[in-house]
This record gives sequence, structure tokens and C-alpha cells, in this order.
Amino acid sequence: MKILDFGSLNLDYVYSVQHFVRPGETIPSAGRQIFCGGKGLNQSVALAKAGADVYHAGKIGSGGERLLNCLKEAGVDTRYVLREEDAETGHTVIQVDESGQNCIILFGGTNRQITPEEADGILRNFEAGDILLLQNEISSMAEIMEMAGKIGMRIALNPSPISKELFSYPLELVTWFLLNEIEGGELTGKEQPEEIADELLRRYPQSRVVLTLGRDGVVYRDAAQAARHGIYRVERVDTTAAGDTFTGYFLAGEAAGLPVEESLRRASVASSLAVSRAGAAPSIPCLEEVLSANLEPMDSSKL
Ligand code: RIB
Repeated sequence: MKILDFGSLNLDYVYSVQHFVRPGETIPSAGRQIFCGGKGLNQSVALAKAGADVYHAGKIGSGGERLLNCLKEAGVDTRYVLREEDAETGHTVIQVDESGQNCIILFGGTNRQITPEEADGILRNFEAGDILLLQNEISSMAEIMEMAGKIGMRIALNPSPISKELFSYPLELVTWFLLNEIEGGELTGKEQPEEIADELLRRYPQSRVVLTLGRDGVVYRDAAQAARHGIYRVERVDTTAAGDTFTGYFLAGEAAGLPVEESLRRASVASSLAVSRAGAAPSIPCLEEVLSANLEPMDSSKL
């Protein structure tokens, strides 16, 4: 069983600011750092650091070599990363405020230049039972899902960022929905976490729903079981890639056949550690750190 993450690769330009810039305002930044990121890249790195064998597919352009090296260093197989030297690699402008919160502007670049034909050439190397992980930062999403469905791959979808196109994707093919409550609310029209999970399961009864709730942790639901887990107390430095870390660690647990509760625990510890560090990919901990971490639960009643 192989895992293919078909997803975005971004250079993150991260500006440290006192507060997020407001309409019409010009503000100074305390500094800028350039990190490797992209929801796709971050999730591949998290999967690899969690111990999974993962292939990354995507596209880079000029300046993208650094992203390729970042994947390789984490142990990700990059043979399916395409190049388009005349085009610009995806990038972001990220503000991180003094409380560690972020806001992100995305420039798609080569992430948005993946064609159905290119995707077909890559997906041919996979077979029924393999896992395809997708976010929503690349082009040809619907076609990729259809092709993977025909092959019999199991699809894990992190529907982030939400777009109007997302609603026309073949979501009935999804096995794992990994999303936060804002995305879940937009997708279902519901507000309360239980209602969101109920509605997703009503529409897609075959699916497993992993709904992250920020400070309230995470709820898991499928047709047969329910589980939840809380978060841990850490100093919040930068929340960028915390969700991606959660997704990669949880899916690695599922692929390895771990009990859902253990996958939730590892993913929660890993994402808490990521929040305590700067940057996207560089903040993702390795499995040894996660297994040996001794973090204090924020609210033990939720563990
Ligand atoms: O989830 C965080 C990621 O979202 C960042 O690394 C940025 O590149 C955007 O894709």
C-alpha cells in the first residue's frame, strides 16, 4: 500500500507583525523569514516524519529547488514532482502576529498549472487500495479525484482552502475528510461540531470524519465509532502548518492500522509541538519527539 500526496509546494514569506494589517494601513514588520511550505508539502513532510512511506506529486517552477530538497531531506519520494522552469513556483505572504496567529495570501503559481494529462501519467503508477491525499491548492482536483476513484485508490481530502469549485468535486469518493470547523461549517451549512459531523456522514456515509476544533481539540466520527481528543499546553509561537501536521500524523496512523484513539493522540501531540515552533515545514516534529513528549493536557476531560 502506497501513499501519494498530490499537493501544493509554496515558498512562505513570513512577516512578524504586532497585529494584522488593516484596510488602508501600512505597518512595519519586525522581520521576515522564508520557509518551505504549502499544505501539500507540509502534509508530506508530516507523513514522512510520522514514519509513513510517502510519494509527493506536484509542480515547481523557478526557485522551487529548495522545496524539492526539503521534501527529500524529510524522506519523501519526489519522483512525481514536475518542473516548469519558465513559470513561477507557488508562494505565500504570511503575517504572524504577537500571539502566534497567522493570516495567509496565496499565489498559486505552478501549483495551479497541473493538467489532467500530467495527473493521469502519475496516477497510473498507483493501484487499488493505495491512498491519495489531497488539499485544495492545486489545479485539476476534480479530474484527479475521478481518476483515483476509477483506480480504486482511497482518497483523503483536506478541503482547504474552501473554494466554490470544491462543491462540484466528486466528494462521494472521499474516505477521509480532515477539516477544521470553519471548513466543515462552509461545506455543510451547519454550525455545531456534532451537526457538522452528522451532516457529512449523512451525505457521505462511507467516510471517516476528522474535525479539528482549535482549543477544543478534535472529534472523529465514522459509521461505527466516535472518538475525541484534546490539545496540549504549549507556548504558541506560530500556528502555521499545525493543521497540516495533524493531517499527516493522523493519516500515517490510519495507514499503519493504529487504533483511531492512538492516531488522534499522536496527531494532537505533533500539532501542539508544531505550534510551539516557527515556520511551516521546519516546525513539524519527528516521531521520536512525538512519542517521547511529555506535554500537559490543556483540559484533561477532553483527552
Ligand atoms: O497550512 C499552512 C500552509 O498554507 C502554508 O505553508 C502556506 O504555504 C499555505 O499553503
